[in-house]
Amino acid sequence: MIRIALTKGRLEEDSVELFNNSGYDASELLNKGRKLLFKLKNADIEIVLAKAADVITYVEHGVCDIGIVGKDTIMEHGKSFYEVLDLKFGKCRFALAGLKDKNFYEGYSQKVVATKYPHVTKRYFNEKGVDVEIVKIDGSVELAPILGLADGIVDIVDTGSTLKENGLVIYEEMINISARVIVNKASIKLKKTEVDNFVGRISSKI
Ligand code: PRP
Repeated sequence: MIRIALTKGRLEEDSVELFNNSGYDASELLNKGRKLLFKLKNADIEIVLAKAADVITYVEHGVCDIGIVGKDTIMEHGKSFYEVLDLKFGKCRFALAGLKDKNFYEGYSQKVVATKYPHVTKRYFNEKGVDVEIVKIDGSVELAPILGLADGIVDIVDTGSTLKENGLVIYEEMINISARVIVNKASIKLKKTEVDNFVGRISSKI
């Protein structure tokens, strides 16, 4: 048996479609209600639905062998696992954004950046040699510049409509993101056949 942690929400629909296209019967996940754990009908595979950062925790601790999670979460929270496949869906990007008609880099004062991704933000500005103060926000980070808490935000942008509807614009495109398959370090050896079989089957349908 292998257990796969699947990120709830954004990546769920495309993942289920990929499973079904690869010959796995994941139909139960389509009408799942509040259920969090599923057994695929035609394979010895369990699927666990979890929040993105928890997918990484479960895979790192080995209670799940495989995870499907965004590159954004990997960059922010990932430490120890193998990233084996780019699923090419869940495409979006990290961007620095802020209020229209403002120049983020103008002036000499230290800028404040609000984000759900403090590590990604810190690395990005370190590499540019720009000293910023980072404020961690847990959600709807778009509010921070509107309320005057920050000069800019670092967040994922998909369609751009959240920024637009809140009067914000992209100052800088940062890094492209998509969904990835990650594998626990022990499982890749101890469950090689099962892991290779699963990864091989889905990779041929990407
Ligand atoms: C993300 C991100 C933006 C929005 C961008 O939030 O933080 O708010 O999506 O998408 P768009 O460019 O298509 O408008 P998400 O929906 O993942 O919710 P969260 O704030 O709860 O993390």
